[in-house]
Amino acid sequence: MTADWWRSAVIYQIYPKSFADANGDGIGDVAGIRTRLAYLADLGVDAVWVSPWYRSPDRDGGYDVEDFRQIDPRFGDVADVEALIRDAHKLGLRVIADIVPNHVSDQHPWIRAALATAPGSAEWSLFHAVAGRGHGGAEPPNDWLSVFGGSAWDPILNAAGQPTGFWYLHLFDATQPDLNWEHAAVRAEFEDILRFWFDRGLDGFRIDVATSLIKAPGYPDEHRAAGVEAGLSLEVVEGQPQWNRPGVHEIWRAWRRVADQYDPPRVFVGEVWADSPAGLAAYLRPDELHTVFNFDYMMCPWDADRLRAVVDASLSTAGLVGAPATWVLESHDKPRVRTRFALDAAGMDINDRSGPGDDVRGALRGRAATLFMLGLPGSAYLYQGQELGLREVWELPASVRQDPAFARTLGADGLRDGCRVPIPWTDEDPGCGFGPAGMSWLPMPSDWGAMSVARQDRSPVGVLALVRRALRLRRAEPALREGPMVWVAQEDRGVLVLRRDGGGAGDILVAMNCGEHPAHIAGGEILVASAAGIHAPDGGVLLPPDTAVWLRA
Ligand code: GLC
Ligand code: CA
Repeated sequence: MTADWWRSAVIYQIYPKSFADANGDGIGDVAGIRTRLAYLADLGVDAVWVSPWYRSPDRDGGYDVEDFRQIDPRFGDVADVEALIRDAHKLGLRVIADIVPNHVSDQHPWIRAALATAPGSAEWSLFHAVAGRGHGGAEPPNDWLSVFGGSAWDPILNAAGQPTGFWYLHLFDATQPDLNWEHAAVRAEFEDILRFWFDRGLDGFRIDVATSLIKAPGYPDEHRAAGVEAGLSLEVVEGQPQWNRPGVHEIWRAWRRVADQYDPPRVFVGEVWADSPAGLAAYLRPDELHTVFNFDYMMCPWDADRLRAVVDASLSTAGLVGAPATWVLESHDKPRVRTRFALDAAGMDINDRSGPGDDVRGALRGRAATLFMLGLPGSAYLYQGQELGLREVWELPASVRQDPAFARTLGADGLRDGCRVPIPWTDEDPGCGFGPAGMSWLPMPSDWGAMSVARQDRSPVGVLALVRRALRLRRAEPALREGPMVWVAQEDRGVLVLRRDGGGAGDILVAMNCGEHPAHIAGGEILVASAAGIHAPDGGVLLPPDTAVWLRA
């Protein structure tokens, strides 16, 4: 494995609560991940990224960290993580963890210490404690909204529970106070946390909300457009005084210096929502983050022209600064790709929970989209269960939902639990082999076992077989590993065909039909197809709608 493995890696995202439960309490854990590393190595991914596993009161799925140097007891301890890293490395897998620098949990010792003092104290200077407006500071300091809905400010109360006239900033839940990154102690603390984990062999970090650490001086109003009621998503709050401030880049340059002191150098992938290609490329400069997530690709609808445009823009943006493009279709924050396309195909809204949409089309498109993505040049992400073609569990009752934004927006948003239902490993009832006791922290739907690893292991036509085959080819074929791509013009605009250059080893075509009619594609042997029954009779393939294929050129 080379030092720039991350340029073409396939990285598998683990949401630890929902991956595998070794001790039977219904919550996934580090020991559970260890038991499934062989599965991941066999699947053919290059690395895992594990969502936060630190000590946390779990008000936001662990993105509310109480202690960055401890593993939450529900998940295990630091020794378990060290063992996991060792096991993973033996299998040729890298391990990336999540780090959450924008905010801490309200149980973090720093904020507890601050709350025991009055605003203006040294303890409060690590946060954003700001005088309110109006008589006695009764109003929030400005109009900023929480990404999870409602004001981004909550009042700081004194020991007697009375308002102090000061407010603390939380761009996310009220239990996630934002840190003040202008303070040298905050910077030093995080560089130390990086070293703590890099010293234990960790290969890199996924940086949570990498755009928001620096706030505009004086906390100016953002003057939201009328009608925008809440910062319901990161997309809505683009280009505002909390996001993408120039000063944030200094922080990533300092982090890069830390990562580069290691052998092999450690790597970063940033959660970056930028407002322009140049804004995004700034994060990818050679002395900043190695890669960032490609949310434009993740959000792109089933539309050949738009997909083509997003692929081109992604490659040229990253190419501006010599960084690889990345590709992603699913995460712990977004609906499963199968259901996103199923709802779209049925003309339903993405937040509609009244039914599965057109699941037959959604399932086909989801498989095709995953195969097409894995054929693009650069690094790709798979979210746990994507390799099984899992659907969004849209029907979760409100009573079991835990996403803090669900409560903050009275159910209008905060639907992230539907992609966090635990993984079905077997088709046994109850619990689908997630843990030994049949328990799971979110209920599994009745069709879960049918999509399980055990069931698909025996099937040559399941999504699992498709992903395994694609990942094997990706490793074996120079064209797919490092070959640049060009589009192959098609008469039918609804069809995407790209050619990966394999040099002497031969070129490969990656094709997907987003149109309504079967399309003839000129090419050779079929290497892998997203659906059964696709044949290449004589020098070409008749590609049905909603399918994708890899062919020898
Ligand atoms: C990121 C995470 C999300 C979390 C938020 C606040 O967007 O992906 O899960 O809720 O940051 O930390
Ligand atoms: Ca457990």
